[in-house]
Amino acid sequence: MDDHFRNSKIKDRIVIKLSGSIFGQDTSESVIREYADMLSSINSEIQPVVISGGGKIARHYIGLARALGSDEANLDIMGIDVSRLNARLLLTALQDKAYPKIPKDLEEVVLAAESGKIVITGGLHPGQSTNATSALIAEIVRASKFLNATDVDGIYDSDPNITSNAKLLKRITVQQCMRLLENDSSMAGTYDLMDIVALKVIERSKIPTRILKADTANIRNAIEHDNEVGTEITVIR
Ligand code: UTP
Repeated sequence: MDDHFRNSKIKDRIVIKLSGSIFGQDTSESVIREYADMLSSINSEIQPVVISGGGKIARHYIGLARALGSDEANLDIMGIDVSRLNARLLLTALQDKAYPKIPKDLEEVVLAAESGKIVITGGLHPGQSTNATSALIAEIVRASKFLNATDVDGIYDSDPNITSNAKLLKRITVQQCMRLLENDSSMAGTYDLMDIVALKVIERSKIPTRILKADTANIRNAIEHDNEVGTEITVIR
């Protein structure tokens, strides 16, 4: 760790990707407030760096624009715009507890993290998902953990929508995860639980990663009590 980081890093940083599924037209004010309260309270021990996903609204807009003839890069930009709008909603609830600007690239994320405040951001670069962006952010802010809070409980050994006895995996290696994703799509709006860019970054920087259901109690348990909720992605050290 270089001096720059040693001097400025007071608390452990934990990167939390918040699934876009918690935002959208059905979301109530109380849900956003609950997330803001949880982030404020864990901030006494750690510094959360949060990336909000685009959710249904992003996918709706991407679908409309694709039908109107948009190219994929512009669809990605649209997804990023919606994820930033979601980030802004959470930022509004956090008020002065969070860094006041939504960072637009990795360097801005680093500057925001240097403030010591809670950082809220959305997507950064076209061509990837907020999962990949979150892994890159975890790498550049030297996070001690990356929590991917999503709309499922974790990774199963088979599709739980098809197989009734599908088992939730407690851990999976990053290489096994890559094999599961071999046939994944890279079209705007269709990036899955984890994508190959995210996994490559997790692998190269050995970032302790967990996929868990987006729920404030779950996230708090994973941070404060190191509970084994969801699925841990392990990397050989
Ligand atoms: P996501 O698909 O990552 O959001 O971003 P989400 O809804 O949170 O995903 P899940 O459901 O939790 O997994 C929405 C879209 O925005 C674009 C992509 O097209 C992506 O599908 N995007 C997002 C980017 O191009 N770059 C980014 O850094 C982030």
